[in-house]
Amino acid sequence: MKILVINGPNLNLLGSREPDIYGKQDYAALLEKLDDFAKTHSITIDAYQSNSEGALIDKIQAAAGVYDGIVINPGAYTHYSYAILDALKAVNIPAVEVHLSHIAAREDFRHNSVTAAGCIGQISGLGFHSYFLAIVGLMSRSNEN
Ligand code: DQA
Repeated sequence: MKILVINGPNLNLLGSREPDIYGKQDYAALLEKLDDFAKTHSITIDAYQSNSEGALIDKIQAAAGVYDGIVINPGAYTHYSYAILDALKAVNIPAVEVHLSHIAAREDFRHNSVTAAGCIGQISGLGFHSYFLAIVGLMSRSNEN
């Protein structure tokens, strides 16, 4: 199984960016944990991060026919990018949206996700665990099919 983990704007600053909200571990630590998870579970996990909407869309489009699942944290694009929503809908790959923070418990503008409608589910508020739970969900789903 091949999973693509996509992180959007400002997630490269994990560790130094508002650590009380996003945690003290940096992006490199997330990549390392994803690698460990992939090895332990005998799957392939590729990770990609960009601060630009177009680059994220290009990556989603290029995933078609290559990946069995997408885990995406679109960052602030979550709340307004209809273009990322359309890209997720355009490729026939099950995607799970993840958030480190509990977006429903934060500012009003973070309560709504426009991108989640292009996903099979959403996991929010569990820090790095959000990513691993999303991957486990995609793995279980693919075993059932
Ligand atoms: C985030 C939540 C978004 O509202 C925010 O803009 C982010 C990170 C999260 O992982 O909690 O950049 O997606």
